[in-house]
Amino acid sequence: MTRRFTITTPIFYVNGAPHIGHAYASIAADVLARFHRLNGENVLFVSGTDEHGQKVEQTAAAQGIETQAYADKISEDFRQMQRDMAISTDDFIRTTDERHKKAATALWSKVTENGHIYLGAYEGWYSTRDEAFIGEDELVTKPDGTKVAPSGAPVERVKEPSYFFRLSDFQDRLLTLYEENPEFIGPAGPRREIESFVKSGLRDLSVSRTSFKWGIPVPNDPDHVMYVWFDALANYLTAVGYPDLSDPRAKFWPADLHIVGKEIARFHCVYWPAFLMAAGIELPKCVFAHGWWTVEGEKMSKSLGNALDPKALVDEFSLDALRFFLMREVPFGGDSNFSRRSMITRMNVELANDLGNLAQRSLSQIAKNLGGVLPERGVLTEDDQSILALAQILPSIMAEQIERKAITEALEEAWKLVRAANSYIDRQAPWALKKTNMDRMADVLRVLVDLIRTIATMLQPYMPITMDKMLTQLGVEEGERSFAALEVPLPGGRVLPKPEGLFPRFVEETE
Ligand code: MSP
Repeated sequence: MTRRFTITTPIFYVNGAPHIGHAYASIAADVLARFHRLNGENVLFVSGTDEHGQKVEQTAAAQGIETQAYADKISEDFRQMQRDMAISTDDFIRTTDERHKKAATALWSKVTENGHIYLGAYEGWYSTRDEAFIGEDELVTKPDGTKVAPSGAPVERVKEPSYFFRLSDFQDRLLTLYEENPEFIGPAGPRREIESFVKSGLRDLSVSRTSFKWGIPVPNDPDHVMYVWFDALANYLTAVGYPDLSDPRAKFWPADLHIVGKEIARFHCVYWPAFLMAAGIELPKCVFAHGWWTVEGEKMSKSLGNALDPKALVDEFSLDALRFFLMREVPFGGDSNFSRRSMITRMNVELANDLGNLAQRSLSQIAKNLGGVLPERGVLTEDDQSILALAQILPSIMAEQIERKAITEALEEAWKLVRAANSYIDRQAPWALKKTNMDRMADVLRVLVDLIRTIATMLQPYMPITMDKMLTQLGVEEGERSFAALEVPLPGGRVLPKPEGLFPRFVEETE
């Protein structure tokens, strides 16, 4: 039976333009989704926009735009960003969609029916920027004496009637969940943080607001709107057609993987499983928290005006170079810094030299010396056999890394083969064989095509556009691009298209 794989990105707040951080989360999830598809799995990959709450309402008001119209516009900007990044989602959930309101309402009703929500009053601190209730003990006092949220965001005192979710009842069940399923939270840093947060004791969670209207009304009590995180988390159920269990997508639940930024790990690893337990719904298999990007050493912020526009980077460097850089620069899970210099270095050293030249050198010799015809596999020397053996095990090595969400390490495994293939070509020097032994030259070039085919096939999730072109140049047909297809060697005799360089060197314009 085909394995099915359900993966999600966070749904993005529509209170500002998409930037490189949003593109990063989308690309990382896309690499994983594409990897699982090429691995023959039945994938559901969803993303979306988080459109309710005070923050969005205030941003729209500040711009003098009607809230829904504002949300429509920014939501479309996020969709466009994802098209620009070649994000292969199967669906895009907007929390203002009717189907989502239905799902969130059904979840609320179920949790209430099961006795886990009660009416009370909230008095305490709220951070609109974080859309989070902040406990007295969590407040941080700045040198000037003002109290802020742990993230540094301003807080305000609120006092209003509120529905509460009995989170305190779930402490033991959550701790058991983490203990019995160590893979539920990744990587280790966030896992430890979440565990100690839960161990330190859970208070009931305020899950509705009455001081503004921009949200999903609480069933049977329209003075309240749902707390935006209750609403937002429910999007993952909207994606599988909840509450309609006969929906064809229902089989995609539970989700295999929620990709989230580390700052929202708590919402996904504490609140979300507790809501689901309360509703009697199966839990996702894993929440994986990725790190944060700074830009040239600085935190991205509206006030600094340094938020990087992903589209501008694509226009300057190309999409695949950007995707490659983001996945390569830092082990997935860690924090990183975007610097122009390091982007250009990786483009020139790793893409243009290591990979681009390898393909170009090999294919241009086939074009020039073999009339562009792919040679049959010849008699293999020991050197040929040992490098082909490396290529043969690459798919399973990368699959193991991907299984543990080690996106960067998986890419490094492919790069080891790129480097090995470069040493092989230098050692075998097919250009010299041309004068002494044409048959052997053809054999070497054929080995190179096989190596590059493996590399290009395995790199498709990371660089879908260029790898598609590279596979075409290698004579690999559309139906021969899955990981499984690598087990069937290409028949010799195919006429290859004229090779063209895929990774130009990036030359910085000098003043
Ligand atoms: N709407 C909530 C998520 C609800 S999920 C049910 C939210 N939205 S957000 O737009 O503020 O951020 C969403 C995600 O964007 C982050 O969790 C993270 O994945 C990504 N990033 C936003 N800024 C980032 C960086 N500077 N660096 C890396 N990724 C960051 O939180």
